[in-house]
Amino acid sequence: MSQDHILVFDTTLRDGEQSPGASLGVSEKLIIAEQLARLRVDAIEAGFPVSSQAQFDGVRLAASQIKGPAIVALARCIDKDIDVAWEALKPAQRPRIHTFVATSKIHMEKKFRKSEDEILEMAVAGVKRAKSYCEDVEFSPEDSARTGLEFLLRIVEAAIKAGATVINIPDTVGFAMPEQFGALIRTVRERVPNIHKAILSVHCHNDLGLAVANTLAAVHNGAQQVEVTVNGVGERAGNASLEEVVMALKTRVDFYGKSTNIDTREILRTSKLVSTLMGIPVQPNKAIVGSNAFAHESGIHQDAVIKDATTYEIMSPQDIGLQSNAIVLGRHSGRHGLKMRLMELGYNLPAPELDHVYQRFLEIADRKKEVFDEDLLALMSNETMETKETWSLAYFHILSGNQTVPTATVGLTHGEETVQEAAVGDGPVDAAYRALDRMINLPVTLQDYSLRGVTGGKDALGEVFVRVRHEGVTWLGRGASTDIIEASIRAYLHALNRILAAQVPGKHE
Ligand code: KIV
Ligand code: ZN
Repeated sequence: MSQDHILVFDTTLRDGEQSPGASLGVSEKLIIAEQLARLRVDAIEAGFPVSSQAQFDGVRLAASQIKGPAIVALARCIDKDIDVAWEALKPAQRPRIHTFVATSKIHMEKKFRKSEDEILEMAVAGVKRAKSYCEDVEFSPEDSARTGLEFLLRIVEAAIKAGATVINIPDTVGFAMPEQFGALIRTVRERVPNIHKAILSVHCHNDLGLAVANTLAAVHNGAQQVEVTVNGVGERAGNASLEEVVMALKTRVDFYGKSTNIDTREILRTSKLVSTLMGIPVQPNKAIVGSNAFAHESGIHQDAVIKDATTYEIMSPQDIGLQSNAIVLGRHSGRHGLKMRLMELGYNLPAPELDHVYQRFLEIADRKKEVFDEDLLALMSNETMETKETWSLAYFHILSGNQTVPTATVGLTHGEETVQEAAVGDGPVDAAYRALDRMINLPVTLQDYSLRGVTGGKDALGEVFVRVRHEGVTWLGRGASTDIIEASIRAYLHALNRILAAQVPGKHE
């Protein structure tokens, strides 16, 4: 591997999916994995197969469908984890088992009650077992940034001796400072005698807002692989953001002198897809992919940018796939045009689904003159193919005003029959949700409701995300419509249908 090249390991589907309430269905995972392959990441960590059937299925599907990037499955240094990870990974063109064990004093004592020697033994046995299945084995000493240096160096050397091809140094709790983390990576490079036999990787969390800075400091000090997530999603405050690390390396190639394989023009599209499917909005001022990242508000700036964009733009918007002349669809667009646009957005639909989506597209196009990419993404987030619609919306009627009791009448189709209920509530959405509860009768609590306009303008599509809690599990529901009450009903119904689908034996979400 060239010293000037940095490998991008994406863990959106594993660590990213550990964001609270962000769980993805299996086919949603595949849609994201396909887009990550288009983005040209080098490795996709697709899940933690032993942790649930859904995780296993997600890895298995990515392993059998995705060509190009390595497909990675996570496993603790435990025989069963490694065996199950391999079972899920088997069909992959380029499989990799990623095995880990905690090495910091606090984790070893409190989690395992084991000594350094016992942990080292677990690591060696785990790597060897993984190696018996698969040539490519990654080893992570979890909580490396808080691990005693001498033990860290010893366990890394032992893991490489046991067959690890990638050594990943995680800052699991986002504790490190950039200079310190950079120095740690340099020390690992300089003092582990067999380090040249493995790729040195880093994995940083963002608890102090330093995940990207730490990752870049590590690259500056010899790291060859960066573990990142799209939009920086992930456990707690998240992981280092893919787009920020990649664009920093590209924009400051003068400083780092490193390249990646990433097709940066796919960045924005990937960000929007992940945000929509995970139900995690991107803050407007987020670096690279926020809606304001390339917006110039002040007159002085606008004037200068018109004269020469580089006065206030250090990157070109086109480099991340931001197009001012994006194709816009409308009422007269045909199925083919819609299909092609959806493919570019990461959705490859077979004919029956396309027909269904086309009908929904026409409904939106009838209400809105122009249908933008954001509208299509919102529409597609409604059409989660794997969520069997046990209940579907037939019609609704709302009575609301500032001097009346909000009342909703909702009709739902359930198999062959249509049922109807009416309810009053604190507002029209509350009334509609009460009517739905009466018909579907699932014990759920609404934890979170958010509404956003997908694009600008009065006729914008409204997109609603809800999170509902059922038997200790949080479920995400999405709905989009030019009518915000309809979007709200669809979102709630989507969450309830997902719960019901997961209750059917053999159906995994
Ligand atoms: O943050 C972490 O330590 C991890 C490991 C499993 C690599 O996610
Ligand atoms: Zn992590």
